[in-house]
Amino acid sequence: MKISIIGGGYVGLVSAVCFADMGHFVTCIENDHKKYTLLQSKEVPFFEPELSEKLSHVYDAKRLSISPSFTPDDFNSDVIILAVGTPMSDSGEADMSYLFNAVSEIIAAAKTTDFDSVVLTTKSTVPVGTGRKIKELVQEAQLSDKILVASNPEFLREGSAVYDFFHPDRIIIGTDSTTVFEIFKQLYKGLHKDTRPIAHVSLETAELSKYASNTFLATKISFINELALLCDKVGADIKETAKLMGMDGRIGKYFLNPSPGYGGSCFPKDTHALQYIGKNQDVNLNVVNAAIHANNQQIHYCFTQLKTLLNGSAQGNTVTILGTSFKPNTDDIRESASLKLIDLLLSDGAKIQFTDPKAIDNTMDLYGNKVTPFSSTYDAAENSDAIVLMTE
Ligand SMILES: NC(=O)c1ccc[n+]([C@@H]2O[C@H](COP(=O)([O-])OP(=O)(O)OC[C@H]3O[C@@H](n4cnc5c(N)ncnc54)[C@H](O)[C@@H]3O)[C@@H](O)[C@H]2O)c1
Repeated sequence: MKISIIGGGYVGLVSAVCFADMGHFVTCIENDHKKYTLLQSKEVPFFEPELSEKLSHVYDAKRLSISPSFTPDDFNSDVIILAVGTPMSDSGEADMSYLFNAVSEIIAAAKTTDFDSVVLTTKSTVPVGTGRKIKELVQEAQLSDKILVASNPEFLREGSAVYDFFHPDRIIIGTDSTTVFEIFKQLYKGLHKDTRPIAHVSLETAELSKYASNTFLATKISFINELALLCDKVGADIKETAKLMGMDGRIGKYFLNPSPGYGGSCFPKDTHALQYIGKNQDVNLNVVNAAIHANNQQIHYCFTQLKTLLNGSAQGNTVTILGTSFKPNTDDIRESASLKLIDLLLSDGAKIQFTDPKAIDNTMDLYGNKVTPFSSTYDAAENSDAIVLMTE
């Protein structure tokens, strides 16, 4: 099949490369000039295990091409996938400007192009109602019989994204049309036919299921983090407690690691977006609100503990931070708990030394000369008053 993917980031590029690896012919559209140029020379603009080798392979096999913009030729694709960012805005709401800019671009091009029909699907995480809104825009442009709107939320995890793409727990397709669902079955043929269930649901259910999953996992993390605070007070061991909880099949052992709080490009923004959706619908999501609140508090607890060890203040101390990405095997530092700690330490007058296996460049882009990078853990630790292990 032919696929066009808009956005060559963590989700778009991984999907493009993996669909091409499955035998499809994929165009990945990336409008950031720097990323586009890197991709053209077969370089992945970020770190993700296995991706570089696979990119090279599908590129040489001529099943992947990179484009700087959407063109009328993309209407020859069976499916156009929207994989642009939907970051958190100041109000907590998802910023949908990238997505609707891309949709406008597609509709404008469709008005002047002759083509049969194409499925247009979101893979980006989008608020409930986005698919309906795209449908309305398509309808207003009198393109309803040509552009068939769907939702196909993505669940891959950075750090194991290629593996996750090929081993999804489920594939979710939100569409009103059985024809569109059949097209997706073809698209994912080979992945779902053995053990991976493929679910046909409404646009709204597909969109909400993504937020529901991420927020539930975030809630599990916040729950165990709050219990960790209690364990410190009563002398219980949080790791043993979590292990014993996880042995209960109804609870499960995952996402019960006490930590300085969840971070990354998804959980913080998705929990806030769901909170915002609830507010808009006059539904009080008390559990979601509490999970967010607990997460915001967590890093302050770590900071206070650290200051106590430094006799009350970080002022004048050199602190080494080991790990700045939000989790292992990625260079993504978006909303990393490590950065929150660095900010608190800097504002308290500490000097920061750090290292990270993959994220030194991204961290330096953010902080410049406010922090000192080291490529070796031992060098980073030298002459410091405190070493904070911020890796998983
Ligand atoms: N990162 C994850 O682990 C993950 C997992 C599941 C779902 N998601 C969701 O997937 C979406 C994308 O996330 P991401 O982490 O890949 O974001 P990202 O920022 O890494 O990538 C988005 C890319 O889209 C490009 N872009 C934006 N507008 C464009 C346009 N009109 N034409 C071409 N390119 C355009 C940007 O330049 C950027 O490279 C988000 O909604 C996110 O919530 C992310």
